[in-house]
Amino acid sequence: MTVDLLVVGSGFFGLTVAERAARDLDLKVVVIDQRSHIGGNAYSAPEPETGIEVHQYGAHLFHTSNETVWEYVNRFTKFTDYEHRVFTNFGGEVFPLPINLGTINQFFRAAYSPDEARALIKGQAAEFATGESRNLEEKAISLIGRPLYEAFIRDYTAKQWQTAPTALPAEVISRLPVRYNYDNRYFNDTHEGLPVDGYTAWIERMADHPNIEVRLNTDFFDETQEFNKKAVVGRTPVVYTGPVDRYFDYQGGELTWRTLDFEQEVLPIGDFQGTPVMNYADGSVPYTRIHEFRHFHPERTEYPTDKTVIMREFSRAATRADEPYYPINTPADRESLLSYRALQAGEPNVFFGGRLGTYQYLDMHMAIGSALSMYDNKLKPLLRGSSK
Ligand code: FDA
Repeated sequence: MTVDLLVVGSGFFGLTVAERAARDLDLKVVVIDQRSHIGGNAYSAPEPETGIEVHQYGAHLFHTSNETVWEYVNRFTKFTDYEHRVFTNFGGEVFPLPINLGTINQFFRAAYSPDEARALIKGQAAEFATGESRNLEEKAISLIGRPLYEAFIRDYTAKQWQTAPTALPAEVISRLPVRYNYDNRYFNDTHEGLPVDGYTAWIERMADHPNIEVRLNTDFFDETQEFNKKAVVGRTPVVYTGPVDRYFDYQGGELTWRTLDFEQEVLPIGDFQGTPVMNYADGSVPYTRIHEFRHFHPERTEYPTDKTVIMREFSRAATRADEPYYPINTPADRESLLSYRALQAGEPNVFFGGRLGTYQYLDMHMAIGSALSMYDNKLKPLLRGSSK
């Protein structure tokens, strides 16, 4: 079978490139994915008993201030007017996040004005100078002071990393936003919303083109399938969005990731927590947060009123067998990544992209934006000659 471009991975990065090459240049594109579904980590599906849409790899909230990306994604889906807000359960009380004047006044049982709160936090943060932190704890205290750090950051961070913040490098956090007003909108991008008929419908529309063939359950490194690395590289241009260390058989070392474990439950009640995401800041609670999926779509009247779906989230270091979610990015990782970048130079017809291919956490709009740039700046000039 003749193809003009092979895309490894059907996440947002891979599908954006595939869609552009097929529609813009009329090229034949094959997209392979080792999973049994398209969409990468943004995939969602209705929970069978309730029909409530569940984001299978953790909650996905779309937001962007990039007008090019916004115009592009609106070709495939409409968005609801959902605005994300998060609360945190600490010491038997619920507080709004990100830390704002509401959080501060509730925590200190006070009615501070913005200036009073600013002066209070500045005084508490003076315990450590910002530039001299020896670890994450000192850095966090230098930004928000000890009381707020100990309540909202210390144990939550320890659960995320399974490591005490005193043993984590200061660079893990660069800033801890504190808002001196009552605004608790989580994102401050120009555009925000959730796909009206779900992520999977959006993703399927991107792949719905006669020139795009998607092959699922197909691993690029499996030499028994047609479009494997050995058979394709050097013959057909490849966009590779799998893990960069796997591509080079880990010869520059194994890059480290955090993964998440999810525990999903259908409960016989209409509403469990009254909000989509509740963090758990106490060290005594083993999970980091609970998602309740019905609240992502309050407009969906078809959802049952006597059942709800919740998902507890637990965080830990990933092994090679786990889903890699967040790059840990240790000094050793950064060194390995440099060696992989050098190796990539020897593969001129393979384009590494996306979260796994570049070892970077990317939000969806960033994955789509960088795929559009790669298409315009590298792939289109190269592939133009192959188009009919
Ligand atoms: P993605 O990981 O989606 O796709 C890569 C694909 O490659 C996968 O389908 C994989 O199976 C496939 N693959 C890998 N190796 C292969 C091989 N050898 N052969 C064949 N296929 C192979 N973003 C956001 O904007 N808002 C949010 O709220 C969230 N929330 C969120 C939560 C969690 C827990 C995570 C981990 C991530 C988010 N994101 C997010 C980020 C979002 O998931 C991310 O932007 C996209 O997944 C990036 O798309 P990619 O195509 O780069 O990777």
